[in-house]
Amino acid sequence: MPEGIRPVVLAAGKGTRMRSELPKALHRLAGRPMIGHVLSALTDAGLPKPLCVVGYGGELVEEYLGSRADVVWQEEQLGTGHAVATALKAENKAQWLLVVNGDLPLLQSTSLQALIERSGPQGGLLTAEVADPGGYGRIERNREGGLGRIVEDKDCDERQRAISEINVGAYLLPVAPLRDSLARVGKENAQGEIYFVDAVTDLASQGHLAVVSVAPDEVAQVNDRRELARAESALRRRQVERLMLAGVTVLDPATTYVDATVQVGRDTVLHPFTFLEGESRIGEGCEVGPQVRLLDSVLGDACQVSFSVLEETELGDGTSCGPFTHLRPGTKTGRQVSIGNFVEMKGVEIGDQTKVRHHSYLGNASIGRRVNIGAGTVIVNYDGHRKHHTRIGDSAFIGCNANLIAPVEIGREAYVAAGSTVNQAVPDEALAVARERQRNIEGWVARRRSREE
Ligand code: UD1
Ligand code: CA
Repeated sequence: MPEGIRPVVLAAGKGTRMRSELPKALHRLAGRPMIGHVLSALTDAGLPKPLCVVGYGGELVEEYLGSRADVVWQEEQLGTGHAVATALKAENKAQWLLVVNGDLPLLQSTSLQALIERSGPQGGLLTAEVADPGGYGRIERNREGGLGRIVEDKDCDERQRAISEINVGAYLLPVAPLRDSLARVGKENAQGEIYFVDAVTDLASQGHLAVVSVAPDEVAQVNDRRELARAESALRRRQVERLMLAGVTVLDPATTYVDATVQVGRDTVLHPFTFLEGESRIGEGCEVGPQVRLLDSVLGDACQVSFSVLEETELGDGTSCGPFTHLRPGTKTGRQVSIGNFVEMKGVEIGDQTKVRHHSYLGNASIGRRVNIGAGTVIVNYDGHRKHHTRIGDSAFIGCNANLIAPVEIGREAYVAAGSTVNQAVPDEALAVARERQRNIEGWVARRRSREE
């Protein structure tokens, strides 16, 4: 790798064709803003911290970037050439600029590496042969096979329009001559913009610029929402293929949504309509889906989850969950826990082999091992102002339809009778009965009948 490369990401454009208030760079694909994909490719290629050119909605872009990039403001978006010239005002150490358009979410780090390795002493750029070159700048090669010039779509004549080799929007160029070329670029073109490609063409007229071809599936730019959806599905396919190659069975790739950040272990089976998002991790030999959404959640090995939503939740090995379970942030289980239908939990830790099989709400609680939580149990954790904590000891048995009013403690091996409303501690091995004693009124129906007649 040549010394002194500074990546520059162009992300000041409004993305007029998106028809959006949101700057184009922040439109989300596969779980993260478009520009996040570009930054990852740069990082994975081993490049130093990029300089990002921001403008339209720049505060939002800057906020998203945080410490991952330095930012330079392009107050007026006069074109890509003007954007690079603006970046160069803030950059005085680098010998090379690696300029990447911020709307290339499919571009891979390997292609950036190829650009760096195969560029000559005067630099180079990425191109691709595509079936439909409409909208892209076209590549005219010179006799030596290097770059002749780049012609923007709107400035093409008929012959040029037929060229299928296009400008991807990633360039490695030496800084000193680039400054001179940028100074020479005007805006006499169909869009009245300062085109970066004109500076590149100018450099090519002075020396050999290497043309490095990449696969067409990496170049899809995102100018409008149709392209956003296409790029989304291409990214999704790429993620699902990554998992399949790593030993995961995906029953229906078209309806399986996996963020780039997600990890899944071998021999796990993903059923249709599964959404794996954020920092989620799944162990080996799990069955996930159909219809599961995992957000920043972790499953151990051999877990089974169907028709459920899990947010910031951790399930231990062999735990099963669903159908129709909603586990909210702070849920953490031990091994072989069984969580059944219509169960909601939040901020609950559960020990090994505990069962919560039907219709329960559990919030802010520590629950031991081998506990049985009967159908309809509710932990009454909120008094209208604050949340309170509940503790349930190992092997306790909570009967059906119990209300546990927090803060409260249920002892080890204690029983709570069905239908009880418990608001005092239950000692170890005790039975708590907290309900009206049943009385039967003999002959009541006959007396009522005679009253009615
Ligand atoms: C650009 C290239 C074109 C190439 C295509 C591929 C130019 C003139 N054309 O066209 O040859 O085939 O990308 O993706 O470069 N931006 C700024 N400031 C500006 C204008 C744009 O930062 O003043 C940013 C945009 O936010 C965007 C990137 O530069 O991320 C490219 O701009 P865009 O308008 O999308 O260029 P294209 O017309 O797609
Ligand atoms: Ca574009």
